[in-house]
Amino acid sequence: MRRILVTGGCGFIGTNFIRYLFEKTEFSGKVINLDKLTYAGNPKNLEGLAEQYGAGRYRFLRGEIGDAALVEKILREEEVDTVVHFAAESHVDRSIRGPEEFVRTNVLGTFTLLETARRVWQSSKGKIFHHVSTDEVFGSLGPVGFFTERSPYDPRSPYSASKASSDHLVRAYFYTYRLPVMVSNCSNNYGPYQFPEKMIPLMVLNALEGKPLPVYGEGTNVRDWLHVEDHCSALWAILNRGRLGETYAVGGRSETTNLRLVESLCDILETKAPESRPQGGFRSLITFVKDRPGHDQRYAIDCRKIEEELGWKRRFTLAQGLEETLLWYLRNRAWCDEVRRGEYAEWIQTHYGSGERE
Ligand code: NAD
Ligand code: TYD
Repeated sequence: MRRILVTGGCGFIGTNFIRYLFEKTEFSGKVINLDKLTYAGNPKNLEGLAEQYGAGRYRFLRGEIGDAALVEKILREEEVDTVVHFAAESHVDRSIRGPEEFVRTNVLGTFTLLETARRVWQSSKGKIFHHVSTDEVFGSLGPVGFFTERSPYDPRSPYSASKASSDHLVRAYFYTYRLPVMVSNCSNNYGPYQFPEKMIPLMVLNALEGKPLPVYGEGTNVRDWLHVEDHCSALWAILNRGRLGETYAVGGRSETTNLRLVESLCDILETKAPESRPQGGFRSLITFVKDRPGHDQRYAIDCRKIEEELGWKRRFTLAQGLEETLLWYLRNRAWCDEVRRGEYAEWIQTHYGSGERE
């Protein structure tokens, strides 16, 4: 029976994690979801949860992780024993255009959470502070090799540098203050509720609207994709069986180049959305655009530690996961239209309106 403070629960992975807890595990405690509702947060993602599971089991609070007084009040009033920290600015391209918010939320926000938990939690007994991080902190791989829990840090974008900084702070609080922390560094996620500025939903929605599919550079960069539900099951395994102070690398064993991924999406759309097929087929929408500055070439994770120590295994192959995800976006066009009508609509017009990046 845990009382979990989830930060950033209205974003992509946070939403999936909260749903996963209630719908797919034996979790019987309470979730308090603290989210500032930036452009990436959508409380409608979790509509109906309090009605379905009881107001005593789910509470949403709009607020800022950098607000120490608010965080302290929540930790005390709700008797929180577990923090699962997702809240972040998460998009690399945005961090290149405006890094400040990334430092504010990812570095200072994480610091405030750590410092407040240290103050409020008098004893570490039964407590967990889990920090959700990314494999991007390790930098860029060449054609061979994998990131592990022991890989040296070498972040290249303001986003990954801010996440690296937060990882260091989290571990420092373990060694210095014995705050009961754990860290996970996960590869690229995909699945339902992902904001359509990220690769997979962006490509799917553009394709359905007959818009260009902007592949950066030559599309040879490699990512290791993991279905978000598999990330959630990894987090649940860590919360239940992980060792305090430890780090777990989580990946999908599903490496592919960006171009191959976009081509696969186009091929699935040919069979699942023939009514939206443009003349020349979906692949004809692929457009090569100017590369992202400092674009990491390859990410890949060796996830043997979490597999062997905690018995975790991913469930979705990339082919299954992509098809299921694409069907979710087809069934949830209203959600897509709504998020696209927001700030994103203006953003896509500025950056992809002509199919060319600035
Ligand atoms: P997201 O951008 O979809 O969601 C972030 C959420 O945090 C939003 O709901 C937003 O409103 C909230 N938020 C932002 N600033 C806040 C603040 N100051 N106070 C409170 N709430 C705030 O991100 P995501 O893709 O769900 O990623 C969640 C976490 O997982 C991030 O820490 C990210 O670094 C990490 N991660 C993501 C991936 C991925 O592929 N998406 C992979 C590995 C790790
Ligand atoms: P993204 O989803 O932004 O995740 P990350 O940068 O954190 O890995 O991008 C995934 C890959 O897809 C990355 O190599 C950049 C590339 N990409 C494109 O080619 N075109 C796009 O429009 C976007 C958003 C990403």
